[in-house]
Amino acid sequence: MRIDVLTLFPQMFEGPFSESILRRAVDQGSVELVLHNIRDYSSDKHMKVDDYAFGGGAGMVMQIEPIARIIDQLKGERSYDEVIYLTPDGQTLKQGLVNQLSLKGNLILLCGHYKGVDQRVRDNYVSLEISVGDYVLTGGELAAAVLVDAVVRLIPGVLSDETSALSDSFQDNLLAPPVYTRPAEYKGWKVPEVLLSGHQAKIDQWREEQALARTRKLRPDLLED
Ligand code: ADE
Repeated sequence: MRIDVLTLFPQMFEGPFSESILRRAVDQGSVELVLHNIRDYSSDKHMKVDDYAFGGGAGMVMQIEPIARIIDQLKGERSYDEVIYLTPDGQTLKQGLVNQLSLKGNLILLCGHYKGVDQRVRDNYVSLEISVGDYVLTGGELAAAVLVDAVVRLIPGVLSDETSALSDSFQDNLLAPPVYTRPAEYKGWKVPEVLLSGHQAKIDQWREEQALARTRKLRPDLLED
């Protein structure tokens, strides 16, 4: 998979992309993450990428030209499955959408800033608009990093224990069951007996029941979906 990220702040991705599982995914070639600084595509002599909104009002709007120039160039080099704009008014990111995106070949992620991008970018270049939740971030970068992290961990070979993604919370619309490790007793707090029994069928059944009980208690809305 290849993911091209269009941003005014490429350094914001340095931390998330260079640690832990994402870094390993890049190092082993499971994903190619390519950062593009939108400012590098400005034709303005001051490298300007934004301007005042037509009709007035506070805040700057990201101009169409630099963004269009990058996307046209990238599309000339290969085909893309989606051009995704991260925005608080997009569809809320859920595990089902993450699963679908993890099966794609090439994605472009566009990060907005200030008042967002000129609507003509959204109308003519963007195929999918995604929000990471009903709150407003300073820009799309952190949202894009969340999306990349959630998608890349599902690419086969990225997680060392491949079954662990299947038992995540939200796969099957259920929260994950509780987990325990050594010691079996701490300050008198004991690990549930069944987990020490060695009886796999009983353990699986216990985990299923716990997942259901936890979902009913904490996120009953998931069971209605
Ligand atoms: N940009 C600003 N806020 C955002 C959000 N909640 N989701 C995606 N992109 C954003």
